[in-house]
Amino acid sequence: MKKWLAGMICLFLLLGVIGIGLSKRYENTPSVPSFVLTYAENQTDDYPTSLGAYRFSQLVWERTNGDVEIQVNTGGVLGDEWEIIRQMQFGGVDFARVSLSPLSEFIPKLNVLQMPYLYNSSEHMWCVLEGNIGHEFLNSFEGSNLVALSWYDAGARSFYSSKKPIRTLEDVRGMRIRVQESGLMREMIKALGADAVSTKYGEVYSAFQTGEIDAAENNWSSYESTGHYEVAPYYTIDEHTRVPEVQIVSEATWEKLPEEYQDIIRECARESARYEREEWEKYQKEAERKVRNQGSKVEVVTMPAEERMRFRQAVEPLYEKFCGDYLDIIDRIAEEGEKTGT
Ligand code: GCU
Repeated sequence: MKKWLAGMICLFLLLGVIGIGLSKRYENTPSVPSFVLTYAENQTDDYPTSLGAYRFSQLVWERTNGDVEIQVNTGGVLGDEWEIIRQMQFGGVDFARVSLSPLSEFIPKLNVLQMPYLYNSSEHMWCVLEGNIGHEFLNSFEGSNLVALSWYDAGARSFYSSKKPIRTLEDVRGMRIRVQESGLMREMIKALGADAVSTKYGEVYSAFQTGEIDAAENNWSSYESTGHYEVAPYYTIDEHTRVPEVQIVSEATWEKLPEEYQDIIRECARESARYEREEWEKYQKEAERKVRNQGSKVEVVTMPAEERMRFRQAVEPLYEKFCGDYLDIIDRIAEEGEKTGT
């Protein structure tokens, strides 16, 4: 046989084998997904909650054989959290990861889980969220047009300021402090003798620049990733709140999905949450390290326990005001804390 003919035969055989291989690989993958859904996330692409969202989307794609595509939009491009929640109630956005602070404006009972000085430690909070209480809250979204999927971590929030460090309760008096879109957080600031200003997350940096605010509060990861340390270089570790975050889905979207897919989505959300917590731990440490490495450009103050107690006492009346009907749950949360010994 001529060499060129043998060569051609080999080439055809090879192409045939590749063809069979590819058709096997894609035989279960629909060319067009039945569901193309949006996911809103307001942090940057490499932030732990965004990494969790990407993992979630990938798992759902794989386990539905490409029949459900979830398109993740990071950086708040779809809107700020409050607007996103509003849109989700009408099915305008399908999925999101949001902070409990704005979400509690729509489901007030959730305030219970973000009360100031509620948790003794991260361990305590996770014991609550992963136990019966967390489970009951995930199932208590009825009437909100939203469905809850899984809890995400967001560490502890502390104050930071632009002009002088916050060391004592007297230091915050009269300050204009940015808070999230949350009645509870506004009241917390008032109880401390300061003025609360609700500013969108994406506008906090410029609000510091224009002098509209003197202080804000957030976790290490957000303080670093947003560059807020550049305009508010005094960070006071006081850890006044731990505000959990949650992955949610619009009920209108949820009801369109077959039950089999709902189960897959729940399972993928839980898996992505475990991944987010691992990433959170790493990111948070790295963020703190980067901030401290700024040297004299940033001053980090740790609030002593006695001073922290004064802050705590100042906000104590908020428990009756925001959780009056749920003081039994607050007691159960405290019991969980005793169990963790933290
Ligand atoms: C955290 C949280 C965001 C939230 C922000 C805020 O960074 O992860 O979802 O928007 O706090 O203070 O608004």
